[in-house]
Formats: sequence, structure tokens, C-alpha cells
Amino acid sequence: MRLVCDMSRRQLIADLGSQAPVILPSLLLCDFGRLADEVARLEDAGVRALHLDVMDGHFVPNMTYGLTIVEALRRLTDLPLDVHLMISNPADYLSQYYEAGSDAITIHVEATSQPRALLQQIRDLGAAAGLALNPDTPIESIEECLDLCDLVLVMSVNAGFGGQAFNPVALDKLKHVASRVGDEVLLEVDGGVNAQTIAQCAEAGAQLFVAGSAIFGSENYRQSVAALRERASANIRT
Ligand code: DX5
Ligand code: ZN
Repeated sequence: MRLVCDMSRRQLIADLGSQAPVILPSLLLCDFGRLADEVARLEDAGVRALHLDVMDGHFVPNMTYGLTIVEALRRLTDLPLDVHLMISNPADYLSQYYEAGSDAITIHVEATSQPRALLQQIRDLGAAAGLALNPDTPIESIEECLDLCDLVLVMSVNAGFGGQAFNPVALDKLKHVASRVGDEVLLEVDGGVNAQTIAQCAEAGAQLFVAGSAIFGSENYRQSVAALRERASANIRT
């Protein structure tokens, strides 16, 4: 059972900012047949939060998992759960993902005509509110929502699959948002983040770094997480 802590879920996520650079393993390429072992290995590797890639096969051309896995992970770990909803009609599911144990709930701006209302709803539930945008989506599409964001997830690949090549279009977007927000909004980058790309993401203003293949494609999670964190630390904006 998760330790009862008086820290709110939003505060748990906000606290990640003071631990930046934070590497978040993306639970997409892990071994779901040994999920408990995988989570133990990640905790052992010193990760500070998990990134959960929920896909519905409609908003993105891939299907992964939903509430049952989020609930299972909530039972398995006290680590903050950063839930990335790559789903259509996210408004229909926000309270269920909160009840399942999400600490941060990130929706895609492309998936709703009312991003502000949904971000407010996530906050009213008690989770940190995140807004994601794909590489082809202009940064202007989220400008009017920044005051309701606890985090902005800048995609450096098209949402839907792990193991894709990093798209540097994310760098200008990170710089743009970093110039418009203060410490109260965390910047997260997701997709193709590895030892070759993480430094430029840190330089561009990212504090949270989602990594899938860079971790799960390696033999030693502790080593790969430490190497990523080291490269990001050397370039993180202070
Ligand atoms: C893609 C997901 C990413 C992806 C990251 O839709 O949101 O989190 O799994 O995997 P890598 O790091 O391999 O690109
Ligand atoms: Zn993701």
C-alpha cells in the first residue's frame, strides 16, 4: 500500500522540479510479463518517477494499456506516476485515471477543443495538470493554456510508439515555453531522448526527461539512468 503522505499529488510532481534533471522511464517498452520486477529494478536504479504511456488505438495508431495497469502500478510503487493520456475524449476518463492513482495527468491539446476546462478539471481532482503537443502542432496552440499547466510535455516524436528518432523541432518549443513560464511549470520532453539527444533538451529548458528505449534497451538500468542524468545535469538550465 502506498504510504499515506500529507503531500498532495500536485506537490509531489512540483517537487520533481527541485530534483531536476529527472529521468522518467516510459513504461511502454518494459517487460509487462514481469512488471513487479521491472518496477523494483527501476526503483533500485534510483528513478524518481514513472511515465505511463496510455494509448487507445484511436487518438494514436497503437494500443497499450489503461486503468488496470495504472491501478496495478499504484499498488506496486510509491513513485509519482506521470500518466500520459494518448487517447481521444480524455474528458470522459480524467476522474477514473485520478482514482486509479495518477499523480500527473497529461492530455494532448490535439485531443480536445477545451484544453483549459480539462486542465482545470485535472487540478480540481487533485492531480498535476499536463498538456502535451506533437511535433507537428505549433506551440501557439498551447499558449493560452499555460496558466493552467503544472507541466508541458513537448513531444520529440509523434505520439504512438517508442524507439523513434528524436525530432529536434522540440528544442525550439522547449525554449519558447521556458521563456514564457516560471518555475511553477515543469517542462518535460518525450521521444527519442537518449545519451546523444538529452543534453540539447536540457539546454533548451527541459527538466523532466522521458526515456524508453534508452533505458529498456540497456542491460543495466542504473547505469543508463545515471548516464542520462549526468549528461542532462551538465547542460541543465538553472
Ligand atoms: C510515445 C511515448 C513515449 C515513448 C518514449 O508515444 O509517449 O513516452 O514511449 O520511448 P523512446 O524513449 O524509446 O522514444
Ligand atoms: Zn509518453
